[in-house]
Amino acid sequence: MFHAQILTLFPEFFESPLSCSIPKRAIEAGIVRVDAIQIRDFATDKHNRVDDTPYGGGPGMLMKPEPVVAAIRRARELHPDTHVVMLTPSGSRFTQAKALEFTGKPGITLLCGRYEGFDERICDYVDEEISLGDYVLSGGEPAAMCVLDAVIRLLPEVLGSPESAVLDSFSEEGILDWPHYTRPEEFEGKKVPEVLLSGNHAAIEKWRHEQARLRTSKRRGARVDHDEK
Ligand code: ADE
Repeated sequence: MFHAQILTLFPEFFESPLSCSIPKRAIEAGIVRVDAIQIRDFATDKHNRVDDTPYGGGPGMLMKPEPVVAAIRRARELHPDTHVVMLTPSGSRFTQAKALEFTGKPGITLLCGRYEGFDERICDYVDEEISLGDYVLSGGEPAAMCVLDAVIRLLPEVLGSPESAVLDSFSEEGILDWPHYTRPEEFEGKKVPEVLLSGNHAAIEKWRHEQARLRTSKRRGARVDHDEK
């Protein structure tokens, strides 16, 4: 079983997303187990403080090292092989390849911060720092939930059809998914591309790859001749 631990000040944040859809089914099927660890339980002062003002001045509060490092130690005690990931906007970019890499670990521990971030010394106690993208969320929790979701759906036996994971956008590194259509054949004057109705599988395959490359080039730039020599 894949074991995910979440270090957070807001364990309740994860309740609804984990009780819907694919994560719910994966938990019920015993493929994944998710445990939240409340960082505040490791506060060392009598006011249970987990944050403090930054040295050198500036706005906002930082997560203090003592409770966070104690929570990381607890996570490692519970799961000595766990891979500890800090969620921070200044981490390396999370990708589909990284999600796939995480499925090969015995488990992951996702460290979520609030306030303006973490005391830098905490970084020495984690295995890597991951960012969801170049924007700032109000905390690590939404980022951790995205990472967890992306990992869970890639675990063996989670998706009904193993093909759907393989055929995902990004399974070919950096190439976006092609456009998809379902019934009706015409909606408000917009027709499904003829080739998809043709039954010609080679032509459909070719069209899909062309569309994926065009879309990638248009939306992300410079990927149009990815697999062309
Ligand atoms: N915490 C706040 N913003 C974040 C981001 N973009 N990615 C990961 N963790 C975050």
